[in-house]
Order: sequence, then structure tokens, then C-alpha cells
Amino acid sequence: MNNMKKAGLLIIFSIAAASLVAQQYLIPHLEKKGNTTQLIVQGKPFLILGGELHNSSTSGAAYMQPIWEQMKKKNVNTVIAAVYWELVEPQEGRFDFTLVDSMLAGARKQNLRLVILWFASWKNGYSMYVPSWIKNNSDKYPRAKDKNGKTLQQLSTFGEATAAADARAFKALMKHIHDVDAKKQTVIMAQIENEVGLFYSPRDYTAAANKSFNSTVPAELMQYLTSHKGKLQPELDSLWKQNGYKTAGTWEEVFGKSVVDEKNWQTLSYLTEELFTVYHYAKFMGKVAEEGKKEYAIPMYVNAWLKQPLTPKPGNYPSGGPIPHTLDVWRAAAPAIDMIEPDIYVDDVFYTVEQYHREGNPVFIPEIKPGIRSANQAFWIFAEHDAIGFSPFGIDESKPDDDPITKTYFVLRQVSDLIIQHQGKGTMKGIFLDTAHRTQSFELGGYRVEAKLGSGSFAELAGFSVGQKKSELAGGILINTGKDEFIAIGKDYNLTFTPLQQDGKTLDVEYFDEGTFVNGKWVTIRRLNGDEGTGGGDYGFGFKTGNVASLKFQPSANGDYSIVKFKIYRYW
Ligand code: DGJ
Repeated sequence: MNNMKKAGLLIIFSIAAASLVAQQYLIPHLEKKGNTTQLIVQGKPFLILGGELHNSSTSGAAYMQPIWEQMKKKNVNTVIAAVYWELVEPQEGRFDFTLVDSMLAGARKQNLRLVILWFASWKNGYSMYVPSWIKNNSDKYPRAKDKNGKTLQQLSTFGEATAAADARAFKALMKHIHDVDAKKQTVIMAQIENEVGLFYSPRDYTAAANKSFNSTVPAELMQYLTSHKGKLQPELDSLWKQNGYKTAGTWEEVFGKSVVDEKNWQTLSYLTEELFTVYHYAKFMGKVAEEGKKEYAIPMYVNAWLKQPLTPKPGNYPSGGPIPHTLDVWRAAAPAIDMIEPDIYVDDVFYTVEQYHREGNPVFIPEIKPGIRSANQAFWIFAEHDAIGFSPFGIDESKPDDDPITKTYFVLRQVSDLIIQHQGKGTMKGIFLDTAHRTQSFELGGYRVEAKLGSGSFAELAGFSVGQKKSELAGGILINTGKDEFIAIGKDYNLTFTPLQQDGKTLDVEYFDEGTFVNGKWVTIRRLNGDEGTGGGDYGFGFKTGNVASLKFQPSANGDYSIVKFKIYRYW
């Protein structure tokens, strides 16, 4: 071959290799950016404004037909929907992806993306979505047992044939999705199983499980602990420390005997048995994810039924699930799983989200109780925790006009790019107020900011407004976009700004605009001044209460959230 030909071939190979790399890079993936991790879809950071469908909705293509349009009307950009092992592989080795194709078609028609839920060996701990050929063969696909030897409904994580069959089916599913969807990227993430874990027993007591529990802790876990010493989650670190940081031994030698604390729900009862159980669920599900990723390596996560006040012990809540203090075990045993995430039906949403926001574990809320509270909490979760997504459960139950998430997503769609730009920078604060917490205070952009429940608009104060109800809930975001400049998103709350350093000058408003973003660019809808503005003078600036600037949202006739841009100046 002459040199010219060689050079030509080299160029062709390099182009082919570069486009392969580009293709690889461009599939949905997670990307670390400074202190935060973003979900990248088609090359751009993407916020999931999601909604999870009821469990059985996607088992009928015709049933789903009108729902896709409803999702669009709710301003959802991503639908979170189940794919069922029993319907994908009704006969062993024979796959049917008709329903999956109908989901892709339904979502694409409305320009929606999908996160798929792999309802397979376990759903809410139980094994109800496995195909009949698994259900009817307990010899090959064994069930877990409790301490008294009673067989449980739940498949055992020690069933090697079960893990192989589940992983094979998921691999086939991901191959299909890759083949029909990698270009369009309708499917952007996958959840492996659903809320796994054992009920009634902190661990499995089959012969295989007993033998494993009394054997040495697997080398891969020991190696992970040793190589991450000093960087482990505090709960695991303190347990390991209490037992002398042993580098080998049985589960009870390394982590101690399980203790049960009946009094405090937050303590880690049955921890050793729970960690053992987590390890085996993680091994199983890590294998499923790994096989799927061989075909299509989009982000994959697991979701948790939470430990909570009324169900405080592993076994009351599913033991072995992705509870936050078990994060290291998931990382060690299931590296193909990118994130562990909470399903939130408890009242203390903030505590829960904080528990899951750990180094390298981006926050995604695959399920949260729907309604007006969560529709307001969404702002706080996105702004305070750089969440990659949020998704009320049972999104197909209510009509778009009746669901408060419709308005939340309407405004969040406009400011998604702005939120993305400010993630991880310390320039954004989330606001959530209710009648029990009427004020919130924080520092931002050189000011102490106080957020108060109630619009406090001039019309409301002066009694001009018609039918104005007292605000009982408010959610929003405040972003510091430049020196003395802020963008606030929300309604039904007001803000005051007190300079952290008083310089003898007096604050006043330079401008106060209501607007929106079109293709990422600010567009002013109207300038707010006079009655609708901060007013300057006595309306907006508290000459009586000190040198503070204030911001009030104008109530909108249809209850929409506003986006306002506001700049403070000083005179002397
Ligand atoms: C949590 C589960 O993950 C969902 O599939 C659903 O069952 C909800 N609970 C509410 O019922």
C-alpha cells in the first residue's frame, strides 16, 4: 500500500473512531461538573420534570393512548413508566417488546422522554412481576426464608438461576431499546427493580444465605472498605470503627452483632444483617444493570421504600433496600448502579432528601406523594439539592387543570436552563414556606434574605384584590445572577434583603421586571413599578424597619408562578 493510501485509511479510521467516541459520549449519561452531577441528554444538561404513572398503566397500549397527551398538558417532560418482565418474556427465551414500542411511540408523539422501571424479580419487595415460568418453579428459582424456616413469597437473592434469567431479560430489553431508540433517546434512564428488600425478616435464612452469613465478608467489599477508609459514609465508618476496623472475618466479626433499638427510629437496628442483605440484593441487581449496560449504558438507579418512624426496623421496611446509610455497599457490590434514590411518602421531605444527597449520589426523586405540598417542594429540591429530576407518583390519576404540578412545571420549564447554570455554584436558594414555617432566612449575594409566607402585594394589603385567599403554602427559587441582581421564581411569598455590610448608603430599586425565558434568553413581559413594583420609598423599602429592600410577587389571575428580575442600587 502506498503512503497516500495509508494516510487515507488512517483518516477514515480516525473519523470512524471519533464518531464512535462521539456516539458513546452522546448517549444519556451523568457528568460531574464541579460540586454537582448533571444528567446529559443529547449533549446538554437535562432536568427531569417527571411524573410516574400508576403501576399498571403501561400494560395496555390502548389504555395509555389518551394519557400521553395528558402528560404533555401537565408540562411533564419525562414520563416514568413500568416495563414488566412477565409481559416482556411470557415464555422463557421468547421476548415481546410490543408494549415497549408502544410506549416509545406514545412518548415521542408528545415529545416526551421516558425513564423505564424494570419491574422484574421484585416490586415493593415482592416477586409479583416475574413470569409464570419463574413463579411455578421454586426449585430452580428459590424463595427466601425467615428465621423459622418459613418460605416467603419473595425470591431469594441467592437464586443464581433467577439472577441469570432476570439479567438476560433486562439485557434483551436494553438491546432492543438501544436498537430502536439510541438515535432519538426517548429513554434516558432505567430503574432496576422497584423498592427491593425483605419483609418480616432482616435477612434471608435459606441454607445458602446462612452459609454465606457465617462465612467471611466477601473480599470485594473488604477491599472497598479498606481502600475508601476515611471516605466512607459516617454510619458505616462508625460501625466498622466500633469493631476495630478489622480487614477480614465473618459479617458479625467485622461489623458486630446486630442490635435492635426500639426507641429511636433513626438508629440503625439489625445493621449487620441489613448490610449483609443489601450486599446480596446489590450483587443481584448490579449484575442485572451490568448486563443491561453491555447493550446500552444509560444511567441506572435503584429506589427505596424508606426507613420511617412507624416502620423503623429492617424487615418492617424492606431489609436490603437502598437506604442512604447503605450507599457504600451498593457502590462496592453494584458499580453498574449509578445512584440510589428515595420514594418519598413521608412528611419530612427535607430530612429525606438531605439523607440521600451524598457525595457522588445526585438527587433524583422517582416518586413523591402528589399534591400541592410536593408541587411547592419541587422548587426547594431542585435549588437546594441540584436534583436531576423530580416526579410525583400516579401522575395519570388527575386532570392537568386539577394537578398543581402543571403550574410548577410550567414555570420550571421556563427556568430549567437558568437552574442548570447555577447548580453547584452557591448562587441559588430554594424556598418552601407553610403555616408551620412562615419564614425562612439565608444569605445570598451579600444580603441576609428573609422569605415570608404571603404575597404582601400592594393590592392585597390595600384590599384591592378580589377573592384573594390567604396563602398557606409557597415554593420558589431565588437566584443571584449578578452584583445586586436577582431572579426570583414563585408566588405567595415575599422577600426582604438586608445588606450584610452596611455602608451608610440607602437601598432603592433600580428595576423590577416580570418576564420569562425564551430559548434561554430573558424576555421582559412588563416592568413592575408603582403599586405593582417594590415601589421604592415606603412601599418597598423599609425606612421604618431599617435599610432593607423588599420584593413582592404580583398575584396572577390564573394562579401562575411568576419570574421576576430585580436589581438593588444605593444612594447617598
Ligand atoms: C411505592 C411503589 O414504588 C410504587 O410502585 C407504588 O406502589 C407506590 N408505592 C404507591 O402505591
